[in-house]
Amino acid sequence: MAAMSASGRRVFLLGALLLVAVSCHGGFGGVGVAEGLSTRYYAKTCPAVESVVRSVMARAVAADRRMGASVLRLFFHDCFVNGCDGSVLLDDAPPGFTGEKGAGANAGSARGFEVVDAAKARVEAACRATVSCADVLALAARDAVALLGGTTWPVRLGRKDARTASQAAANGNLPGPVSSLTSLLATFAAKGLSARDMTALSGAHTVGRARCATFRGRVNGGDANVNATFAAQLRRLCPAGTGGDGNLAPLDAETPDVFDNGYFRELTKQRGLLHSDQELFAAGGGGRSSSQDALVRKYAGNGAKFARDFAKAMVKMGNLAPAAGTPVEVRLNCRKPN
Ligand code: HEM
Repeated sequence: MAAMSASGRRVFLLGALLLVAVSCHGGFGGVGVAEGLSTRYYAKTCPAVESVVRSVMARAVAADRRMGASVLRLFFHDCFVNGCDGSVLLDDAPPGFTGEKGAGANAGSARGFEVVDAAKARVEAACRATVSCADVLALAARDAVALLGGTTWPVRLGRKDARTASQAAANGNLPGPVSSLTSLLATFAAKGLSARDMTALSGAHTVGRARCATFRGRVNGGDANVNATFAAQLRRLCPAGTGGDGNLAPLDAETPDVFDNGYFRELTKQRGLLHSDQELFAAGGGGRSSSQDALVRKYAGNGAKFARDFAKAMVKMGNLAPAAGTPVEVRLNCRKPN
């Protein structure tokens, strides 16, 4: 060290810093925080990317407003499983490869893959082999929220696509509809996301639909923390026992297809559709309260506050990166590795 020149010391210091950065990578349950993402990542190589994705999303949402919700959810399911790396988009390729589409939270439920394909095809036509599927999905999710009447944010770009995926990781990392507040907080904390981020992000349930199978227990006597009239209405669609598993109900009955703060108002009336939703307000019922009650009340009364926190949390979630060493590429077709 003593004999090291000034430039040698600089190189040494840089190396040490790099080492620290690399060992921090992968800190959140095998997921890292992306470095080097930038809103101008494709400014020279694919300046049209944002307008191309936006126009595909605009057409899709005009044809079916739920599609905005479905694409937004895909981004969440991508980011929570080994970071935002397009892994959720990979098709199974039997007999060798089983991807995330068959995982509990996705099977018979995740939708919107064709819209991502359409956006990617248009992006490929504009700039070949340049923009990752993960970035297309990040932009599409942002556009979905805006097109449904919600807020917007600058999307940092430069993600790469994973060459593989893990169904077990999807099963292990995606929260389920009967999760308790404690478990939701732990699942998000494992990704470096705070309680506030978790509650704000759950506000995505201001749009979209859920299947009876995910809320049957809640509306058929299995939940103390539910509005009785609301439960009775839903029982007509989703009776006890079996049958009607695929019947759909809006996650936010107040304004099902508008990205606003109606979801939080519904929670304050015990009208959350999923058990996991209602856990954010007066968790468990029976006079118990939740650590998130005050925040839910705040969002219910202040749409601008929710919009700001949601945008911030989406950027944070979008920074989740694959664990160091994951083989990556820019996929040409989002459904299969090159
Ligand atoms: C907090 C933990 C969460 C749980 C337990 C959860 C669970 C669920 C479940 C069970 C459904 C219904 C699926 C079905 O019945 O087919 C659903 C739908 C949905 N989720 Fe979540 N979710 C969570 C967080 C999030 C986050 C963070 C986002 C996005 C930022 C999101 C976006 C959506 C959207 C938009 C839908 C409706 C999709 C559609 O209509 O196709 N969710 N979620």
